[in-house]
Amino acid sequence: NSKDASISVFSSHRLNPINRKIYSGFTEHMGRCIYGGIYDPENPNKALITPQGFRKDVIDALKPLNIPVFRYPGGNFCATYHWEDGVGPRDKRRKRPDLAWGALEPNSFGTDEFMQWCKELDTEPYLCLNFGTGTLDEAMAWVEYCNGTEDTHYANLRRQNGNQEPYNVKYWALGNEVWGDWQVEQMTDTAYAERALQWAKALKYLDPNIELILCGREGPTTWDYTVLKHCIRARGNDPVGQPRLQLIDMHSIHLYTASENHYENVYAPLTAERAIEVASALIDLTYYEQKIPATQKRPKICFDEWNVWWSKRAPGWLGAEEKYTLSDALAVAVWLNVFIRKSADVEMANIAQSVNVISPLMTTEDGIIKQTSWYPYELFCRYMSGSLISVHLACEEYDGPTKLEFTRVTKKTPWLDVSATFDGEHVNLAVVNVHEEKDFETRINGVKGSVQVFVVSGENVDVTNMGGKEEVAIKEEMWDGKGLYTFPKHSFTLLRWKA
Ligand code: AHR
Repeated sequence: NSKDASISVFSSHRLNPINRKIYSGFTEHMGRCIYGGIYDPENPNKALITPQGFRKDVIDALKPLNIPVFRYPGGNFCATYHWEDGVGPRDKRRKRPDLAWGALEPNSFGTDEFMQWCKELDTEPYLCLNFGTGTLDEAMAWVEYCNGTEDTHYANLRRQNGNQEPYNVKYWALGNEVWGDWQVEQMTDTAYAERALQWAKALKYLDPNIELILCGREGPTTWDYTVLKHCIRARGNDPVGQPRLQLIDMHSIHLYTASENHYENVYAPLTAERAIEVASALIDLTYYEQKIPATQKRPKICFDEWNVWWSKRAPGWLGAEEKYTLSDALAVAVWLNVFIRKSADVEMANIAQSVNVISPLMTTEDGIIKQTSWYPYELFCRYMSGSLISVHLACEEYDGPTKLEFTRVTKKTPWLDVSATFDGEHVNLAVVNVHEEKDFETRINGVKGSVQVFVVSGENVDVTNMGGKEEVAIKEEMWDGKGLYTFPKHSFTLLRWKA
């Protein structure tokens, strides 16, 4: 009696809590992300700008999403970034060539401005350390500047700059993509692992409350295995019998997906699902090989760069000002379903990026544009939290090419992509119908009562919101929950039942 598909939701089968940090953001000194996106003091439209020089419309758009963490200042930008250039009186700040993006960095936005911006958004900062031209001394000084409470040089420098209270920055990345041949100081896996472990020790001695994120690669790589094996150790006890500090708290991986072909585009995020599985297995293997007791906190994945990015398509700055289509919005919904399904293994994920650069949110001189991909992101941020619940899908499958590099284990891929959560009050079901032509009449089992429904779709998979018209947005409606529910072709639907 289910025509095209059936979905069974097991709302009492709660699998694991979902960490809301999977909805985190990323703001890099790249293109118009910081200058023009977050910070825009010279904008002639003064009504748009806060007294600190921030874009008010960007804050107003992001704030309701309750984004838990923002990563900063890069990305590749970190590899030559010296944080001291960006603090203190603005007229004394050093301008520097930015080697990552071939730009001139004015440093008029730096650590203190980023902290103020985070405060405005009621979010936590996550800082990425310079593993290119930076030194351990400089990294320790940054931690001291941000978190120091004693009468020490860098804590006092922060106070002198008008910030009495420590920022208590918890998350710090041990470099960014240091394996890449575009880095000014590309490293081998073993060289990186040795340096990361030494830095981790020093940084944790300085501030044991911080959490450190190791620089992995895409997940299923020798790099990931080598750096995990070297840096994740049994804590054991120090010579006076005290347990040693946990040095590594998360393992970072990055992946961008995209294709000209709609089906390759929407299924490509499933590579991330496999990447998370393999990276998590490598962490397990490391625990096994190093005989680390199961009681020792196990690092999870920090997917701190993910998105659809097809640089050839974007004519804007360095190919980063993507114009997202409905197909891309559906791919983003599949990405987010992956993070929900893998929420036992993923502690944090950061959409790359949060404004103007490969972003669902764009600024113009006089306002903002919410791209197609904004809407699934908004719905997930608003509703898909609590616990992961078990869901079973029976559905026809797509049998064409998908380019799923890491998922060759299966060739067929269901037309619907699904995840479900229970947030304490509601059962939430997220369904992407990737089919370009076909609506799916679906029986939904295991849930009762009327349903709040949000649908994101558009005329066809190629439409964008960047042509002066909002082609894709959220349509909200109620469904009485009776009979079959029809998931429209090329759509993302979020259904909510009150428990
Ligand atoms: O997010 C854009 C860039 O992509 C980042 O700077 C880098 O880490 C990645 O290669």
